[in-house]
Amino acid sequence: MSTRRRSPRPPADHIRANRDDWDRESDAYDRRYRRVLSGPRALAWGLWRVPEARLRLLGPVRGRRILEVGCGAGRWALALRRRGARVVGIDLSRAQLAHARREAGRRPLPLVRGNAERLPFGDARFDTLFADWGAFTFADPVRTIPEAARVLRDGGRLVFATASPLRIVATERRRYRLVRRLIRPYFGLSRVRWGTGIEFHLPYGEWIRLFRSSGFEVEALIETRPDAGARSAYLSAPDDRWARSWPAECLWALRRAPRAAPRARSARRAARSASGRAHR
Ligand SMILES: C[S@@+](CC[C@H](N)C(=O)[O-])C[C@H]1O[C@@H](n2cnc3c(N)ncnc32)[C@H](O)[C@@H]1O
Repeated sequence: MSTRRRSPRPPADHIRANRDDWDRESDAYDRRYRRVLSGPRALAWGLWRVPEARLRLLGPVRGRRILEVGCGAGRWALALRRRGARVVGIDLSRAQLAHARREAGRRPLPLVRGNAERLPFGDARFDTLFADWGAFTFADPVRTIPEAARVLRDGGRLVFATASPLRIVATERRRYRLVRRLIRPYFGLSRVRWGTGIEFHLPYGEWIRLFRSSGFEVEALIETRPDAGARSAYLSAPDDRWARSWPAECLWALRRAPRAAPRARSARRAARSASGRAHR
């Protein structure tokens, strides 16, 4: 898969902060979570590792051109390649990509160091984009969602897992614990800082507005609810119990709407300006 050169532009502060954070944390993160991200749990979503075989969000993968956006150690991407997909992984962090290279072993995986807000790929190059708590959590959605729409072919899928906005407004900042009261305003939710890292989370209405204005249709929103007694490797036991009552995580499944043909677009523009003149 060839990549497109993009003119250099200094990265935004959240990109620099997150890149440094992941470079610093990568080894510890990998030691801590590699077990829940490997083997049969490589092809599984989110905090409770719900199998893709159960949710079927990605659709058929054999022969499909798939981009994992914020691929980390690339275990999802490698598992998809074993199922016949043509997968590329992109990630901001050099250290995370080094893990992906090691995981791929003797058969290198196409890996690109880059920022999801400015994807270095041409238009309509992929059938599917996805991220399991990848770049759509850490990069500005106002940039990443239109970029995802640009590099997807018409009818292509975008699937990603991230935090629910409810989780964000009910997370106590200091101890990063879920509580049963609303701590921060829901309206206006966007950039959220946790320690040295920066995430982006939107109210549901804002996500949907952004998806639609970027050319996506929403196929599904799964608000993951863990089974009673299920434990997430990422959460404390009280947080698992919280998530039995309120959604802590969202899995969005979107479809790229067909792009308007250039002739249809200019006809619509002409009709709009003619009707504007008629009303003046
Ligand atoms: C939680 S990891 C997700 C990887 C894997 N799915 C996992 O669960 O370990 C988040 C990844 O997103 C990457 N990332 C953050 N911001 C990004 C951006 N703007 N562009 C590309 N990757 C980004 C980080 O470097 C990190 O590897």
